[in-house]
Amino acid sequence: MKKTLIIANWKMNLDTHEASTLLHRYHETIQIHRDIEIAVAPSTLSLQPLSVELDRRKFRLCAQDAYFKDEGPYTGEVSFAMLQGLVHYSLIGHSARRVYFGETLETVRDKVTAAVRNGITPVICIGETKQERDDGETKQVIHDQLTTALSNITSDDIEEIVIAYEPVWAISTFEGEVAKPDDMQKAFDYIRFQVKELYGARASEAVRVLYGGSVNEHDVRAYLALSGCNGVLVGAASLNYAKFSAIVDSAYRLHHQVE
Ligand code: PGA
Repeated sequence: MKKTLIIANWKMNLDTHEASTLLHRYHETIQIHRDIEIAVAPSTLSLQPLSVELDRRKFRLCAQDAYFKDEGPYTGEVSFAMLQGLVHYSLIGHSARRVYFGETLETVRDKVTAAVRNGITPVICIGETKQERDDGETKQVIHDQLTTALSNITSDDIEEIVIAYEPVWAISTFEGEVAKPDDMQKAFDYIRFQVKELYGARASEAVRVLYGGSVNEHDVRAYLALSGCNGVLVGAASLNYAKFSAIVDSAYRLHHQVE
């Protein structure tokens, strides 16, 4: 059985000292379970110090972003090549990158390619805006984001890829509307359908698809219960260790059918 993947996206919060303190709290409070994998995505600055402090049996590190060129005169950037060996995962194409930093479908594609080239598992973030949803374009957006992002991914690589479906309007820092879990099922089905169209049935079953957008300790179970949902990407609630640890507990209870 696939492990449930829970990713803590700390976004641009916490200096290195605060990040280290929060990681320490995670170590103290989070119960680790065999069927749950937890990845922590701190700022790029904190990746190195946290990699030394982190108990690798409990947590994996995830970058929030990196640049697609391996090296060169790209002032201010850090490449996937530089993160090799440091992180297991990297978020790519998070809606904040698309909205605030103008990342295009092609940039996301190049980053996904660079991550795989450097042995880092991409967590490709996709999802429609409120306007697009209201205009009935959700499927088209998912289609375009997914097919472009995966353009250079071979059938050997696809099974490792993680896709995070995050409707932009449901992310706490955008509209922060709470998405009804049942309303998300269609998007999950469509994502798997797309992967099947591109790579076949086996790949479509193998890829992990996560939900993200205002996930908290109360509703996580309902999202994880969606058919084909393999985990969650948690922003705001992951900055609170008690809430985040309750999210992990809920996932465990769901697996083991504990009320
Ligand atoms: P949120 O963030 O849980 O605060 O909505 C999720 C994300 O942006 O990845």
